[in-house]
Amino acid sequence: MTSLFNSSSVIGPPLRLNLKAQVTRGNPYCMITVTMQLRSTERQLGCALALCFLALIPWGIPRARALDNGLAITPTMGWLHWERFMCNLDCQEEPDSCISEQLFMQMAELMVSDGWKDAGYEYLCIDDCWMAPQRDSEGRLQADPQRFPGGIRHLANYVHSKGLKLGIYADVGNKTCAGFPGSFGYYDIDAQTFADWGVDLLKFDGCHCDSIQHLTDGYKYMSLALNKTGRSIVYSCEWPLYMSPLKKPNYEEIRQYCNHWRSFADISDSWQSVKSILDWTSSHQERIVHVAGPGGWNDPDMLVIGNFGLSWDQQVTQMALWAIMAAPLLMSNDLRNISPQAKALLQYKDVIAINQDPLGKQGYQLRKASNFEVWERPLADLAWAIAVINRQEIGGPRSYTISIVSLGRGVACNPACHITQLLPVKRELGFYEWTSELKIRINPTGTVLLRVEKRSHTSKSLI
Ligand code: GLA
Repeated sequence: MTSLFNSSSVIGPPLRLNLKAQVTRGNPYCMITVTMQLRSTERQLGCALALCFLALIPWGIPRARALDNGLAITPTMGWLHWERFMCNLDCQEEPDSCISEQLFMQMAELMVSDGWKDAGYEYLCIDDCWMAPQRDSEGRLQADPQRFPGGIRHLANYVHSKGLKLGIYADVGNKTCAGFPGSFGYYDIDAQTFADWGVDLLKFDGCHCDSIQHLTDGYKYMSLALNKTGRSIVYSCEWPLYMSPLKKPNYEEIRQYCNHWRSFADISDSWQSVKSILDWTSSHQERIVHVAGPGGWNDPDMLVIGNFGLSWDQQVTQMALWAIMAAPLLMSNDLRNISPQAKALLQYKDVIAINQDPLGKQGYQLRKASNFEVWERPLADLAWAIAVINRQEIGGPRSYTISIVSLGRGVACNPACHITQLLPVKRELGFYEWTSELKIRINPTGTVLLRVEKRSHTSKSLI
């Protein structure tokens, strides 16, 4: 298969923008493990345990170099239309839910007036179906003139005037998934068009691409084309999702070109879909977790909290686990009509802080037994987030006993820690010794999310 591009133009490190931010590297936990003083047999046992965990999980693997555009230093937060509004083109019959500039302007207003922007949701993103069916006479993409009468530049100005950023959608192949013009053969023109319009994020889909070579080259080429425009544009890819049926994705390479990347099927508004994403993630964690970090993230797809398909406990599970997975938080819901409970969950500061933790390490599934799953994520300042899911879909709440020594690779609570339950409701659980246990109760399909901080009764500061 011949490539459309001169391979020398697509291989090699992406160009650098001036806006480079400092990325945190290194592994403070490893250092702690080795310098820890052994004062008792328990500690020796703990150290052995910790080293055992270290050997099991690719802890020491240095993260691959990220796309060096200074963006997505923490996972992107915002709103994306697809799951809730899909490809509704009928503005006659359904003026309030068709894909139109009015929809995005309304969402922009609400993102500011209803506290979403203050909570961190910054990117208002258009998905498929915004385009006119044809490019213009100069080969540029254009918005559908009926549904976006002001055009995208006008919408971007409006979104920017609210202090938000605008995301747009295009496709690496000949057509978008919904059949609108694809970017194949037009990568430079499209990147420049988006930059000229003032776009801040590109979701680049992978439908209608005729070969793996075109897919790979196209994703790389677009990364470089965006960078060449000089505008800061977050690059959201679906490269591994479309590649994996044909070839194992090289995540280290993908991270060099994309700010986040989808690997698994589209989310839908159902528990079945959320749990399939969790199962895919845990079964591939050896390959994907260590790759994530400042500048590049695994993307398990949109948050569907606030819609129709998830029970309250399942919404709690999605929020907690998207925080553990360091996932982009792109809500797809109707901000004009969302329950106060869903809004509070999506705007929950302490959970967002876990998602946005500056250490930038993705969490992983620690253990799975008797229909419980324990997940954990290392956080800055030697803290940890722990999530326990009750995966049993029959019966009522079930108790789970956490052995404190097992948390955070054996070091999170050595010699003691302070534990706060964040979800389903916030409760200070207090101080726990390294050898103690914690009993929690979890609803079916629900999650208990904990924040564990390394502190003793006597000191309020870090040990
Ligand atoms: C694909 C993507 C979705 C959405 C649709 C739009 O299925 O994976 O996220 O963008 O295309 O057509």
